[in-house]
Amino acid sequence: PSIMENAQRQELGSIHGIPLYSYFVEKWAQVDAFQARPDDLLISTYPKSGTTWISEIVDMIYNDGDEEKCKRDAIFNRVPFMEMSCPGLISGTEQLATLPSARIVKTHLPVQLLPVSFWEQDCKMIYVARNAKDVAVSYYHFYLMAKMHPDPGTWNEFLQTFMAGEVAYGSWYDHVKGWWEKKKDYRILFLFYEDMKEDPKRETEKVIKFLGKELKKEVVDKILHHTSFQEMKKNPTTNYEMMPTWAMDHSVSPFMRKGMSGDWKNFFTVAQNEIFDAHYEEQMKGSTFRCQM
Ligand code: A3P
Repeated sequence: PSIMENAQRQELGSIHGIPLYSYFVEKWAQVDAFQARPDDLLISTYPKSGTTWISEIVDMIYNDGDEEKCKRDAIFNRVPFMEMSCPGLISGTEQLATLPSARIVKTHLPVQLLPVSFWEQDCKMIYVARNAKDVAVSYYHFYLMAKMHPDPGTWNEFLQTFMAGEVAYGSWYDHVKGWWEKKKDYRILFLFYEDMKEDPKRETEKVIKFLGKELKKEVVDKILHHTSFQEMKKNPTTNYEMMPTWAMDHSVSPFMRKGMSGDWKNFFTVAQNEIFDAHYEEQMKGSTFRCQM
């Protein structure tokens, strides 16, 4: 079988108890030894929480709202995925090594797996959290279209797997709680997908301020327009259509799927919702983390 066929529907491996794509696990030593630079900006999220959206916003800010500059390459090359590795493709760490400062680095790692150099260098970090129910729905569709995942089974089966933390990157609950705690001691701007939907201007201005930039109103307006769901859906450098079709099949479900809050209401049955709520409460007990559903 070719590399492409090999990359399809593999079982997950694990690293320190966190389920992860087996190709990422194979090259884990490179990730662990990753050397962050003090001016790196880390974008951290649990999968399907708005990673691509915040990445495009940050790259637009770095380029003073010049959308042509942001169209220089696909988002996954402008903001490399640090722990990514796949035979036949350049890995995230290799890609990052060739990038000039100041780099924007994407990760989905839970706090305990983040390479220590990020903490040592005191890098600025932006974490985006999205409510667990919409993440589960978005992740299910992503499992269907992106062939590096195991077969998700039915929606109900996938929901059980998600709640048990047996999906890639493990438990959503532990991920958000872990990053929420870290923000007390490090330079982490903690954002919510739902807030970004509710008031993109307010949230984008928080990012601009966090990055220590000052931008004119016209520039901010350009950034808001360019990073709207409709614009990003039709932009080939942000909609992942530049990925090979053996890896992502947009005819199954587009990467830019719905881009809304509360789509879970179209998927959760009343029974699933009750079980989920009870489990959620138990998992989040003792944490001050709150998000809009
Ligand atoms: P849905 O599947 O609910 O549509 P990630 O980039 O972390 O993989 O997250 C992908 C999710 O973010 C998808 O959610 C996608 O549609 C949504 N998304 C991407 N860009 C967006 C934007 N500009 N505005 C709102 N949602 C966006």
